[in-house]
Amino acid sequence: MERARHSGRFLVLEGIEGSGKTTQIERLDATLRGAGQRIRLTREPGGTALGERLRGLLLDPDLPGMCPESELLLMFAARAQHLQEVIRPALQSGEWVLSDRFTDASFAYQGAGRGLGAARVAQLESWLQGDLRPDLVILLDIEAEIGLGRAVQRGRRDRIEHEALDFFERARAAYLERAAQAPDRYLVVDANADPDCVAERILEGLRERLPLAAPRG
Ligand code: TMP
Repeated sequence: MERARHSGRFLVLEGIEGSGKTTQIERLDATLRGAGQRIRLTREPGGTALGERLRGLLLDPDLPGMCPESELLLMFAARAQHLQEVIRPALQSGEWVLSDRFTDASFAYQGAGRGLGAARVAQLESWLQGDLRPDLVILLDIEAEIGLGRAVQRGRRDRIEHEALDFFERARAAYLERAAQAPDRYLVVDANADPDCVAERILEGLRERLPLAAPRG
């Protein structure tokens, strides 16, 4: 396993729109830094100059004709750069990488949501990542209708947020299925609870799975 070749840890937060991911990743970042960990906070699509440009294209509501194959390949183009510039070097230097989304999102949104199938996503994953996988994926789970309702309330919707409810239902189901297949690598947290409870549940789950440094006195 690639894990054995580096001393860092790779944590990913996932969930459909409106699951509270951004709030929770900021809280987790602050808590882990407070516990003395060196953290590299990043996101997908994005995390590099090229990745952020690709994110702009991927989320642009004025590009409604993007086909599923282009979408998947652009996600992986951003990811290849992210792996090369940020994720691998950070892990090799012993940092903990905390990423707002990674390849599970491609399985959920392009594989299931767009119907491209898991096999195509898995091919790109093994080509670009080798055996590098997150140590833990924290999945904030919420019903698609509730999550989408929250996202719509936030204001201007991005290109993907314009999709219909059944797209997000397929994405949610794919996330849950992947989590059920590898329970030691996924922490599923009910994102309906209030943000303090969700944050507490994430920390409990993390403590059960990964040794944390003692908080600084
Ligand atoms: P977010 O940063 O608000 O989560 O927005 C990113 C959007 O991109 C979100 O709708 C999920 C989507 N996405 C994919 O469809 N596939 C992917 O591989 C990734 C990383 C994100």
